[in-house]
Amino acid sequence: MATEGPAPPCAPSRRRRGRTLSDVQPPGTGSSSQSAGVVDEAVFRRTAGRFATGVCAVTTRDAGIDHAMTVNTFTSVSLEPLLVLVCVEVEARFHDAVLEAGVWGVSVLDVTARAVAEWLATRGRPLHGQLDRVPHRRGPVTGVALLDQSVATLECRTTATHPGGDHTIVVGEVVSVAAPPDAGPPLVWHRGGYHRIQ
Ligand SMILES: Cc1cc2nc3c(=O)[nH]c(=O)nc-3n(C[C@H](O)[C@H](O)[C@H](O)COP(=O)(O)O)c2cc1C
Repeated sequence: MATEGPAPPCAPSRRRRGRTLSDVQPPGTGSSSQSAGVVDEAVFRRTAGRFATGVCAVTTRDAGIDHAMTVNTFTSVSLEPLLVLVCVEVEARFHDAVLEAGVWGVSVLDVTARAVAEWLATRGRPLHGQLDRVPHRRGPVTGVALLDQSVATLECRTTATHPGGDHTIVVGEVVSVAAPPDAGPPLVWHRGGYHRIQ
């Protein structure tokens, strides 16, 4: 990783590394661009990290246990029907839980929720009680946790899953939404770090 902080967490993190820059570039060509057909993982991460996103907590409830995880791959997909997606790493504990439950929540975090985002991105944090100190309420349709420090929340019911390398693309029909008019600014993820909109 060169100059721009940690990688976008959605990027592959546990897979075998491909060939490195020195394998595909002659010396002295630098690391800011690459087009030899094999792209180095670190360069890919730095490139993808130029795309600014919001930060969300996805939640689900399986066998009476609340699961939650920080993501930045939330995307709206379709208006008719109303569909959204999130990409979930296969090795994340959230993965099997959300596939099993079939319902999930998306809390689009506000700027006060940075510590929450960091907590829910901490690998191996205790599963039980991980939302005990995170203010939340229950979604009216699915009962999943929806976080209070959010600019918007959605509840979803899974309609399709698609393999996406070391992630699964989980597509869901939106069954409830909330976007309070008095919400503050969102939390932003860019170049491997958290930001606020000025
Ligand atoms: C800003 C940010 C965005 C992230 N986006 C995703 C994502 O879209 N999909 C994903 O699977 N992991 C994403 N992660 C990583 C997960 O939050 C992290 O791997 C997960 O909490 C690990 O939980 P586990 O130990 O229960 O498996 C992101 C992390 C951060 C900090």
